[in-house]
Amino acid sequence: MNFENSLNFARKLDKADPLKSFRKKFHLPRIGGKQTFYFTGNSLGLQPKSTKSLLNQELSDWATLGVEGHFHARHPWLYYHKYSKKTLAGLVGAKPLEVVAMNQLTVNLHLMMTSFYRPTSSRYKIISEAGAFSSDQYAFESQLKLHNINPQEGLIELKPRPGEHTLRTEDILRAIDEHRDQLALVIFGAVQYYSGQFFDIKTITEAGHRAGANVGFDLAHAIGNVPLSLHKHNVDFAVWCSYKYLNSGPGGIAGAFVHEKHANNPDLKRLAGWWGHHEKDRFQMKKGFIPMPGADGWQVSNFPVISGAAHLASLQIFEDAGMKNIRKKSVLLTGYLEFLLQSIENHDKHFVILTNANPQERGCQLSILMKQNGKKIFNKLMKAGVIADWREPDVIRVAPVPLYNTFEEVFQFVEILKKASDRLERSDAS
Ligand SMILES: Cc1ncc(COP(=O)(O)O)c(C=O)c1O
Repeated sequence: MNFENSLNFARKLDKADPLKSFRKKFHLPRIGGKQTFYFTGNSLGLQPKSTKSLLNQELSDWATLGVEGHFHARHPWLYYHKYSKKTLAGLVGAKPLEVVAMNQLTVNLHLMMTSFYRPTSSRYKIISEAGAFSSDQYAFESQLKLHNINPQEGLIELKPRPGEHTLRTEDILRAIDEHRDQLALVIFGAVQYYSGQFFDIKTITEAGHRAGANVGFDLAHAIGNVPLSLHKHNVDFAVWCSYKYLNSGPGGIAGAFVHEKHANNPDLKRLAGWWGHHEKDRFQMKKGFIPMPGADGWQVSNFPVISGAAHLASLQIFEDAGMKNIRKKSVLLTGYLEFLLQSIENHDKHFVILTNANPQERGCQLSILMKQNGKKIFNKLMKAGVIADWREPDVIRVAPVPLYNTFEEVFQFVEILKKASDRLERSDAS
């Protein structure tokens, strides 16, 4: 599309947007009584207006039924982990058997690594991107230590080439090949939280498998943001959280994917609990763990219905909007943001966009590396009502979310950014 740098054009795009009605389905934050420009759905998604009624339904069933709600609530609690399967499977490109909502992301990462990181004396290395989200780094480090492996020796962290901000797939493949005889696990943030890079899941998975390793992905910044085909791409496992693009609320329930090929493998070691035990005799309280087939067999504890209800409210919106339509708008919305940023006079003096220029290699987030006065400009943005995200030492992450952000908001954001940087430049010069 040939974009134009004008408010009129932005409004035209909004008018033609087939998803425009979805914005009304969300509560838009008002801080200090003022409407905000919310570009932080990559950190915490907005609250769907339908969330309250789904929560109220469970609260009222609990109030009126007590423990009987497990069987007689309008959504019987006993089966609650099943209600999200179809939509989650659609979002990650999986079969319903391969996905389950449970726990929090890092807990799921540990559960998955317990099964899929089984180092031996010769094959023990983990390959990941350098600068992975801290919680993932701690999980890798502690898993290595659990197996008495020195993290310095066992963890291979891949950095972009000097002067570059994102990893080249060819460099990832080369590293996998270089370590192939010692490699146990390849694990990447599918969309990197800092740079916004969307890695080539298919190619990385094939390379990891060629090397004899298992391959997993952290989908925290990918689910609900980019199209995924985990089953087809033969990924072994994946984990995600639901409070970002899935809008399930702070600390909302996370999820996991386990490929069907592992569904009935009794040799896979795992940490077990009663909710992963086969449902046909889960309540017999017998000795001997028999896992449910598929991802359900990795559940440990019983299902948190209250956060699960918030999750269902948001997943319904994804069903209604359709991930294909969401992605289509997302590519346009983020493309417009990129176009406007690059239309700023002398923009390369002020900032550089870290995130890949190819829309196939990014989601909705653009990470803007500020060359000067970054924190001051960010503070000015916040003062003007822009909720974006600051990452030390010098990056502003902006995520226009197609379900609730508009082209006009993107236009206004860039206008505010221009004003904030101009003013600072003038005050610096005086
Ligand atoms: C990429 C990534 N991994 C892990 C986490 C931590 O997730 P949790 O606190 O749900 O375990 C986050 C949280 O933002 C994240 O962005």
